[in-house]
Amino acid sequence: MQIPLSITETRTGSVLSAKPGWEELKRILQDYDGRSRKCFLLVDENTERDCLPLFHSLLGEINPAELLKIAPGEQAKSIDSAKHLWEQLSSFGASRDSLLINLGGGVVCDLGGFVASTFMRGIPFINIPTTSIAMADAAIGGKTAVNLQAVKNRMGTFSLPRLTLIDTRFLRTLGLADLHSGLAEIYKTALVADLSFWNRLTSPELTGLISVPIQEILWEEVIERSAGLKWNIVEDDFRDQGRRAILNFGHTFGHAFESLSMLGNRLPVSHGVAVAMGMICECYLSVNTVGLAKEEMARISVILRSVFGYYPLSGNDIPAMLSFMTKDKKVNEGNLCFTLLRKPGEALTGQCCNEKLIIEAFEYYRRMEVRK
Ligand SMILES: NC(=O)c1ccc[n+]([C@@H]2O[C@H](COP(=O)([O-])OP(=O)(O)OC[C@H]3O[C@@H](n4cnc5c(N)ncnc54)[C@H](O)[C@@H]3O)[C@@H](O)[C@H]2O)c1
Repeated sequence: MQIPLSITETRTGSVLSAKPGWEELKRILQDYDGRSRKCFLLVDENTERDCLPLFHSLLGEINPAELLKIAPGEQAKSIDSAKHLWEQLSSFGASRDSLLINLGGGVVCDLGGFVASTFMRGIPFINIPTTSIAMADAAIGGKTAVNLQAVKNRMGTFSLPRLTLIDTRFLRTLGLADLHSGLAEIYKTALVADLSFWNRLTSPELTGLISVPIQEILWEEVIERSAGLKWNIVEDDFRDQGRRAILNFGHTFGHAFESLSMLGNRLPVSHGVAVAMGMICECYLSVNTVGLAKEEMARISVILRSVFGYYPLSGNDIPAMLSFMTKDKKVNEGNLCFTLLRKPGEALTGQCCNEKLIIEAFEYYRRMEVRK
C-alpha cells in the first residue's frame, strides 16, 4: 500500500517592533483571556528583576497568568530545566491551547521554545527577546534548543514562535559584555548578507553602539536591519538545508573558542565575541579557499579586533581547538567544511579546508594579538 502524503509547513510567525508588537500581544492575550485559555510567562532571575516591570507597565491591566522561572545563564539550557518546566506546565493545568511567552535572552527563548514545541506535541509560544543577541538572532527563525552534556544545541526543534516582539527598551539594563555579544552576531549577518549594512555598521556614526546608557536610536536601526536579514534568510530555508548555513560564518572556530574558555582557569568569553574571533580565523580560510581579497581580510580583522578585543590563544592550545572543531563538525575525507566569505555581503557554504590551512588560520589569528 502506498499513501501519498503532502505536508505543507505552516509558517505563520511574525516579527514585530515595539508599537505594533505590543498591540498584537494585547490582542492575543485578550483573546486568550476571553476564552479562558491559560497563558504562562517564562523569565530568568535577571529578566524577572529587570524586564518584568517594563513588560507589566506596557501591558497595563492585562496580566498573563502563571510565572515560570529559571536560573540565568547557559547552564539552564538543559534537558533538566526542560523537564522541570514540562512538569510545571502539567501541574498548572496547561493544555494544547495554552500559550507560553518567553521573556528573556537567547537562553530563555531557546529553552522556552523547545519546551513549548514539545509539550503535548506543541503549544503556541511568543518570544520577547531582551538581549541584543536574542533580538537580532536567537528569537527569530524558529530554532529551539537545549544542550546535552557539553554539546550545544544537541536537542531541539524547528518551531516558529507565533510572534516575536522586539522592543529595544529592554536593552537599557543590559551590561556592556552582553551588548557586545549581540553586536558580533549583527556584524556577522551584515558580512554574509548585506554589503551596505556592513559599510554602515563600520561607519564612524555607529561607533557609539557600545556605550552605556545605550543609544537607543542606533540599536533600533541595527537590530531592525539585522533581524530583517535573518528573517529573509529563514524564509528561504526554514529547515536549514541550504542558504541558512551562511549564518554559520565564524561559528566553527567560534564554538572552539567557547569550548576552550570553559576549560579550567580560562578567561570567559561570550558566544558573540567567540564568533568574532572565529570570523577572523575564517577570513584567513576565505582568502585561501574562495578568493576573499587579502586587503579585505586585513580590514575586517582589524575592525573585529578593535571592536571585540583579542581572546588569548597560545600555540599549545591549538590541538585542543582542533579537537573541539572535529567534535563539532562532520569531517569530510580529513577536511572540515565551513561557510566562507567571498567578499563582504557574499558568503559561500560547504567550503572544505584541510588541517594545515586551519592551523595557519590559528597562527594568523595569533598574530592579531599585537594589533589594535
Ligand atoms: N536559536 C537561535 O537561532 C540562536 C541564535 C543565536 C544564539 N542562540 C543562543 O542564545 C544564547 C545566548 O543568548 P544571550 O546572550 O541572550 O544569553 P542569555 O539568555 O543567557 O542572556 C545573557 C544574560 O543577560 C541576562 N539578561 C537578559 N536580558 C536582560 C536585560 N534586558 N537586562 C539585564 N540582564 C538581562 C540574562 O539573565 C543572562 O544573564 C546561547 O544559548 C545561544 O546558543 C540561539
